[in-house]
Amino acid sequence: KQSPVIAPSILSADFARLGEDTAKVLAAGGDWVHFDVMDNHYVPNLTMGPMVLKALRDYGIAAPIDVHLMVKPVDRIAPDFAKAGASLISFHPEASEHVDRTIGLIKDAGCQAGLVFNPATPLNWLDHVLDKLDLVLIMSVNPGFGGQKFIPEALEKLRRVRRLIDDSGRSIRLEVDGGVSAENIAAIAAAGADTFVAGSAIFGAPDYASVIGKMRAAIG
Ligand code: DX5
Ligand code: ZN
Repeated sequence: KQSPVIAPSILSADFARLGEDTAKVLAAGGDWVHFDVMDNHYVPNLTMGPMVLKALRDYGIAAPIDVHLMVKPVDRIAPDFAKAGASLISFHPEASEHVDRTIGLIKDAGCQAGLVFNPATPLNWLDHVLDKLDLVLIMSVNPGFGGQKFIPEALEKLRRVRRLIDDSGRSIRLEVDGGVSAENIAAIAAAGADTFVAGSAIFGAPDYASVIGKMRAAIG
């Protein structure tokens, strides 16, 4: 298991002051920026694209940017996020015609690649590609919105992927996304996650540093 990473989801940030709010959450102890891309097609919501990512880089955001693509098709737009300054790009297997090709496309563009599992997506999508991945993302809500409740079945899925990653002997991160809070993060870490996305729990709090501090203390 790798050192824990807390990735605030800027889906819950103040979009009218996105640069400022992102810098603030990083200064408060966030490790990565989780960047949710929704297309009103693969998921029923619409958020931000490569131009916004580039604007954050131009503003001076230097932390790793963890792009979570909830878009279909994936291949046409993924390289644009790499060009805009993404560090890691994750996508949903159902949204890609050729999962192996999409992973290659992301890596050729110079980014790390992740595969995302919805609550009802079976883990056998990992069978032939695990060794090519840098990250596996387990959704603990159905994608599309911030502020939803953590689905407890995600814990068993995390335990299963933890075993697959450990058996592979590779340094693949195990990320969790949806309904993560200071209250449930210890149980989520115990199930094997090492990378934690949190949106509303952080941006909805009056003091970002205090929530992030609580989360870090809970995962040790
Ligand atoms: C949901 C997004 C999440 C979202 C999490 O589709 O992928 O990253 O921002 O928000 P919270 O932490 O509020 O559940
Ligand atoms: Zn996300």
